[in-house]
Amino acid sequence: MVTANSENTGHRRTRLRKLEDEGKALGFIILVCNITSLEKLSGQVISTFYQIQNSIHSAFKSPGNVWPLELNHTYCAHFGQEPTAEEANEERYLLNSIAWPGPLVQGLPVELSSDPSKSYFVIQGPAEQRIGDQLEVNVHVQNFLGLPKKHGGDFLIARLHSPELGAGVAGQVQDHHNGNYTVLFPLLWAGVVWVEITMVHPSEAVMVLKSLQEEQPDRVFFKSLFRSGFVSETTVCNLCLPLNHQPLCNYTDPETGEPWYCYKPKMLGCDTRINHYKGGYKKNLITEYEAKFFKSNVNIKVPIRASGMGNVTVLPAEKGLANLKKYEKTSGFYFHNVWRPLRGAALQQFNDSSAITHCLRGKIIYMLGDSTVRQWFEYLTASVPTLKEFNLHSPKNVGPFMAVDSKNNILVSFRCHGPPIRFTSVLSSELRYVANEIDRIKGGPGTVILVSVWSHFSTFPIEVYIRRLRHIRRAVVRLLNREPATLVVIRTASLQKLDPGNSLFNSDWFSLQINSVLCAMFKGLNVQLLDAWEMTLAHHLPHLLHPSPPIIKNMIDLILSNICPVGKKRS
Ligand SMILES: *[C@@H]1O[C@H](CO)[C@@H](O)[C@H](O)[C@H]1NC(C)=O
Ligand SMILES: *[C@@H]1O[C@H](CO)[C@@H](O)[C@H](O)[C@H]1NC(C)=O
Ligand SMILES: *[C@@H]1O[C@H](CO)[C@@H](O)[C@H](O)[C@H]1NC(C)=O
Ligand SMILES: *[C@@H]1O[C@H](CO)[C@@H](O)[C@H](O)[C@H]1NC(C)=O
Ligand SMILES: *[C@@H]1O[C@H](CO)[C@@H](O)[C@H](O)[C@H]1NC(C)=O
Ligand SMILES: *[C@@H]1O[C@H](CO)[C@@H](O)[C@H](O)[C@H]1NC(C)=O
Repeated sequence: MVTANSENTGHRRTRLRKLEDEGKALGFIILVCNITSLEKLSGQVISTFYQIQNSIHSAFKSPGNVWPLELNHTYCAHFGQEPTAEEANEERYLLNSIAWPGPLVQGLPVELSSDPSKSYFVIQGPAEQRIGDQLEVNVHVQNFLGLPKKHGGDFLIARLHSPELGAGVAGQVQDHHNGNYTVLFPLLWAGVVWVEITMVHPSEAVMVLKSLQEEQPDRVFFKSLFRSGFVSETTVCNLCLPLNHQPLCNYTDPETGEPWYCYKPKMLGCDTRINHYKGGYKKNLITEYEAKFFKSNVNIKVPIRASGMGNVTVLPAEKGLANLKKYEKTSGFYFHNVWRPLRGAALQQFNDSSAITHCLRGKIIYMLGDSTVRQWFEYLTASVPTLKEFNLHSPKNVGPFMAVDSKNNILVSFRCHGPPIRFTSVLSSELRYVANEIDRIKGGPGTVILVSVWSHFSTFPIEVYIRRLRHIRRAVVRLLNREPATLVVIRTASLQKLDPGNSLFNSDWFSLQINSVLCAMFKGLNVQLLDAWEMTLAHHLPHLLHPSPPIIKNMIDLILSNICPVGKKRS
């Protein structure tokens, strides 16, 4: 029943090739979280649609032109709860929407691959523009011989900034599939602004990542310790293990149906599993040829230079306030290093612990997910002295953690998400799925749930992530139906520091797909998406898996601003 990882590779490849051949318009390749639509929906809307359809939110409308994509679930997909017909349709739509164009030739000489240092950008329009305009930049990608590329698929990111103003905003990159790209930047402040375009990966590298994602989903592997009395054994575990090799222990979650397997220990029973931990990262994943597309300072996160001017001067808007409507793809920007969301609650700064305590009084905050939500727990406990961490005797960095301010009736907790999780060692008894945790939360106006589930999914086919989000979304919909006033904030993936080694496991290209899926799947629900992608892209500090403290402070200020919006009480 279980399909070995490599068996159906042929099918998959055919499917991917087919998608590329159809040459589908990719449109904007930089993630867009449309928070506008999320703000407007009230709990009432949610309950109404809940009656109609309790698994898919109303915002997902099957677009008329879904390409006939045959879903061949090759990777454990026959486990877990069957998606409903509408969810399966949604999955098809999601897979289509993240399809990535790529070179159709294999074995291209490296000199003909995209070279950021030979590529250039040209700013369009006058040297003086106005707030409220859009700055257009054309990017021309060339190969190592300095000749124009004829196809798209390079992964570019873009930022517009004014260093002396502490200002920055992300740009939207559009791929024309011919080696040319257009980048659009909102102009949101006055002053001299500089364009920064970075090639994260050439299209040739993206092809390698794409096949790794489909063919080597076990490149991060997991283990469990089994123990009974004096006997202990360790075996390998994953979402999917080949049948017919060795007997398996089946740890499929009875509630969500999320699959998880370990090889059965030789002497011990499956019920003697003690913990779960990251086994390691596989080596020699790519050939020497493929490795040439992953060279630090050559083609991983290398800036593209300006041809001509690299800056423009932005003047104040001609009359009054600029119309922000056309910036709906932008979540916000930095000014004086403070995040300014373009929609939703205005950002307030919570500089001292008493302001934080005042906002959190009477609240229960659940933080569920990976280490990037744990950072928020660490930030709060470090900056609010009255919030005392309760000693649960949990392992460092793993949790679960809990902090209490009993005088102000504040409870903050962190718990990691279920497997796959690359933590050092999580006790079996502490392995919980986020969906199941949410099902056990009462909710209400005093409850805040912060979720971050992304980085441990980057090595799996995206279908695995879609399935996980589907389970989380069902639980969120149930929660908002019981208690519509519950605040749910979901953090998106953010940019990371990449080198040849970790690109194969953690590339921002994987995160980009994760974010597209995440934003699309929670669109229309009454949840807040915290656009960590833009908050790390727009900031001047280096990209890090765990963003730097100034970025974390902005995230916390944004969350607190949503918990305690100015001038009104959440109810
Ligand atoms: C899907 O799988 C079936 C059965 O294995 C196979 O006949 C079919 O050709 C596959 N389709 C694609 C698009 O790979
Ligand atoms: C964003 O949301 C607004 C309001 O719901 C909608 O009109 C617009 O089409 C959405 N934009 C995108 C890019 O999804
Ligand atoms: C890409 O842009 C360059 C410079 O503007 C232009 O010469 C070239 O024709 C464009 N390529 C395609 C395929 O349109
Ligand atoms: C594992 O258990 C689940 C749930 O009980 C079941 O649906 C699935 O078929 C089992 N897997 C195997 C390989 O038997
Ligand atoms: C803008 O760029 C031009 C050309 O690169 C440069 O000469 C000029 O000094 C820059 N403007 C500012 C204000 O730095
Ligand atoms: C918070 O600190 C910043 C930087 O020191 C300052 O500019 C801002 O006015 C402060 N805000 C509040 C509400 O105290």
